[in-house]
Amino acid sequence: MADKKKTGSATTLTTRQGHPITNNQSQRTVGSRGPATLENYQFLEKITHFDRERIPERVVHARGFVCYGELEVTGKIGDEPASKYTRAKLFQTAGKKTPLAIRFSTVIGGRDSSEVARDPRGFAVKFYTEDGNWDLVGNNLAVFFIRDAIKFPDVIHSLKPDPITFRQEPNRIFDFMSQTPESMHMLTHLFSPRGIPANYRHMEGFGVNTYKMVNAQGQTVLVKYHFHPRCGVASLTAEEAAKVQGQDLGSASKDLFEAIERGEYPQWDMYVQIMEDHDHPELDWDPLDDTKVWPEKDFPLRHVGVMTLNRNVEDFFNENEQIAMGTGVLVDGLDFSDDKMLVGRTFSYSDTQRYRVGTNYLQLPVNQPKNARVATNLSGGSMSYQRDLAPGQNPHVNFEPSIHNGLREEPREEPNNPPEIRGRLTRSVLERRNDYAQPRARYCTMMEWERDDLVQNMGTLLGQCERDVQERMLWHFFLIHDDYGSRVAGMLGMTADDVKHLQPLPKQVLTDDDQKRLKNLG
Ligand code: HEM
Repeated sequence: MADKKKTGSATTLTTRQGHPITNNQSQRTVGSRGPATLENYQFLEKITHFDRERIPERVVHARGFVCYGELEVTGKIGDEPASKYTRAKLFQTAGKKTPLAIRFSTVIGGRDSSEVARDPRGFAVKFYTEDGNWDLVGNNLAVFFIRDAIKFPDVIHSLKPDPITFRQEPNRIFDFMSQTPESMHMLTHLFSPRGIPANYRHMEGFGVNTYKMVNAQGQTVLVKYHFHPRCGVASLTAEEAAKVQGQDLGSASKDLFEAIERGEYPQWDMYVQIMEDHDHPELDWDPLDDTKVWPEKDFPLRHVGVMTLNRNVEDFFNENEQIAMGTGVLVDGLDFSDDKMLVGRTFSYSDTQRYRVGTNYLQLPVNQPKNARVATNLSGGSMSYQRDLAPGQNPHVNFEPSIHNGLREEPREEPNNPPEIRGRLTRSVLERRNDYAQPRARYCTMMEWERDDLVQNMGTLLGQCERDVQERMLWHFFLIHDDYGSRVAGMLGMTADDVKHLQPLPKQVLTDDDQKRLKNLG
């Protein structure tokens, strides 16, 4: 009762200081026509907070949508006990459920841009496990444009708006891609009908990079993660997408939010592909190359569980804008591989989040571990609102080691068999590049209508590019498949003869098969 007297009824508007607000319509002025007074705390709190309402949008994947759910595992990896490959607790027991948050996103557009752009979609999952959080930050397409993290700012700059006109310019995009043969596989996916997912429910998810699993004996395997939507994959043609975005820029978030509100909970089957942990000289591609898929006939999909999404956010800003996921966030039993993209990404995510959200971003409710305890000596910094103390801990001790009841390290009991690494420091490219064989395999498995769509989409954008860029892109397409090259060339009023004069790119390594195709060009 006493409280009620102090602040009015439960819904009385107050300032952040707990002062009830008696008039929210007029600022304080001398007389009804002003001037306004400067000591007006209520007005100042409201307007200055408004002035700071936004944080920087994500540098990529700015538009996205979060919801929550759980992963229920089978306790197995395919037909074998999960423990054979990993000691990560979340996978061990049949029926075990781990709560999760997932954020779907587009990549290139800003925070309010269209959700039906031709663009990869983010598929980033935060598992709140009992061993702490595990983030699996993936996309809806199985491969990526580049294989070395140092090229990420370049590929993104080429895809983002021009620094002067602020328009996304095909000539800039294909200028970069034409000099980046490893992007051909991703482009072949992106410009196929799969390039515009109908919404977030009807798309696949892939970890893309190569990770490791570690078992209780410290033995490791290489792993790729996959999610398949139980409601199937659905995509839009460019014309369908144009109609959708003419009416609504947020169609995918709307679809997801409304399905969950209706109780139609979307589900995905989760699979892994597994490979022995070495460099596999028998393959003509490198298992650490994220521009390659692992053919399923050689590395079958092994079922591990089902992900169900069943709860919407309560506040977009707190849960969507402030959620922070990154590839460095792994739990015991899961590990990094030496995939150069993965290692580079792992630095980038937490770096950008310290800038974008703030030093103490991990104290925010959506980012805190929900099923594991946190006890650290990290303290202070902007917007810190608690110490990560353990129950009964001496609060004066914020260092380690201490003999006065501070936090202590806990040596790991299970072995981790760290690999021995020897080599000269270098700056070089993976040797087995083979940039055309997998896009060729993809092109060959496409149905006729899919090829038509690919050629149409590619030809339309290339038609807006300068001649030198067109020629080099066509040169790559001819190396992928004669039919691919000829059909896109046809849309540009060109033939193989127009690209015959081009030499391989500087430092480009061609396979024997590529050389043969080059010789027979035209
Ligand atoms: C977001 C960097 C490659 C998937 C981001 C963000 C950065 C970044 C800085 C913004 C994060 C934030 O503000 O919270 C990089 C770098 C890459 C790379 C440096 C390459 C070296 C990839 C790849 C994938 C991917 C290959 C797909 C497997 C995502 C997703 C998000 C994201 C899904 C959005 C996460 C969310 O919803 O909050 N990336 N990225 N990125 N990236 Fe990457």
